[in-house]
Amino acid sequence: MTATLPGEKSRSVSRAARLRGEPRLPGDKSISHRALLLAALAEGECTISGAGDGRDVRATAAIVAALGVRVNQLNADGLNVDYRVTSPGAEGLHEPDRVLDCRNSGTSLRLCSGMLAGLPFFSVLDGDASLRSRPVARIIEPLRSMGAALFARRSDSLPPLVVIGSRRLRGIDFTTRVPSAQVKSAILLAGLRAEGRTTVREAVATRDHTERMLRSRGIEVRREPAASSGGGPVAWTLEGGARLRSLDERVPADPSAAAFWLVAGAIHPDAELTLRSVGVNPTRRAAIDLLLRMGAAIDESAVGGAGGATADEDAGEPLADLTVRSSDLRAIDLGAEDVAAAIDEIPILCLAATQALGKTTIRGAGELRNKESDRIAGVVAGLTALGARIGVEGDDITIDGPTPLVGAAAETLDDHRLAMTFAVAGLIASGTTTIDLAESAAVSYPSFFLELEGLTA
Ligand code: S3P
Repeated sequence: MTATLPGEKSRSVSRAARLRGEPRLPGDKSISHRALLLAALAEGECTISGAGDGRDVRATAAIVAALGVRVNQLNADGLNVDYRVTSPGAEGLHEPDRVLDCRNSGTSLRLCSGMLAGLPFFSVLDGDASLRSRPVARIIEPLRSMGAALFARRSDSLPPLVVIGSRRLRGIDFTTRVPSAQVKSAILLAGLRAEGRTTVREAVATRDHTERMLRSRGIEVRREPAASSGGGPVAWTLEGGARLRSLDERVPADPSAAAFWLVAGAIHPDAELTLRSVGVNPTRRAAIDLLLRMGAAIDESAVGGAGGATADEDAGEPLADLTVRSSDLRAIDLGAEDVAAAIDEIPILCLAATQALGKTTIRGAGELRNKESDRIAGVVAGLTALGARIGVEGDDITIDGPTPLVGAAAETLDDHRLAMTFAVAGLIASGTTTIDLAESAAVSYPSFFLELEGLTA
């Protein structure tokens, strides 16, 4: 089906007669990063099982190692990895003797900044060309007001980013300007080491993995209002100075990776795919719920919890097995809250919308321009090349469907989520779809193309 040799940069995907199987999924990228950082801050030894072994998480593992943490790989299968992490604890971490390379990973950049803000030494965070174009003012402002010194290129707006941490951070009460779990998490990580109370307020609730993982490790994190569902305004509060416990972590399968197969199964005329032990945290499952609203035939059955399960229902991560079958989709309207909740899944949802009856509108999607690429420009150009009827006005995207797709060259802008979106499009497009720089999929999903081949065999 795909006729490309390993190591080549582009991939060809041909229309598939049928899709069947159980694609393996990487461990949740967001949780894998956090598990490494929290393991670094807690004194002791722990194992992290099933961490995603994409390039982004590797970047965080290397950063943590450069600060004096022992990170041993126990098992790796080309998709996931088990780590044993031994840390001297936050007090024992030391100044890195080289630039910390976040590669393509915005999560490494933002979360590490928060951790480093409370460590009394000098660090420089840098990355690839994409990372150097991503905004950092959003973390510089709150971390500075806590007492850390941060500097960046272009009047403190772009990486590389210098962080001079402080032993004497002060807690703050901060309202995020854009819905961002990365910014929230950076502030909470700094707040752990600050004097007094730190509160982060968000107009729209974003993924709450940091908060759950802190609770599992003995930190009291209060949420107002107390409801544990996603959406709506929310404030998170913790008191600085509490001791973080080291804890073993089993990482759930990544719901953002699962979304590619949920859409593939829903839009393909002869498909049945099953995805095992997917993280379905209410703040992460928006793409599943949006697809259900579009009429996707998705069956969900809960499986036992993971992620450092405790008696506290907001500490672990809920999991489910998902089965998707060929579906008749209909158009829906998405607002800014939906965009915030499904921020990483918007490109693949745009593909779903090309096969849905009616006009899908996605409003307030501007934050997509700040991702690994300008994802609005990238998804519109790529899907248009395949014959989709998709347009943009300001920050709003509209897609008319259903439209038969025609194989063509689709440009990924070296963005993993665009590469995987166009590859899934290739499964239903007539002829052959060529995806340039397809290896970018390895940023989050190293075996993506292997799994894809397995489903069509
Ligand atoms: C992430 C948060 C999101 C998301 C990214 C992972 C996280 O970024 O796009 O892939 O792990 O906190 P923003 O917080 O910048 O929206």
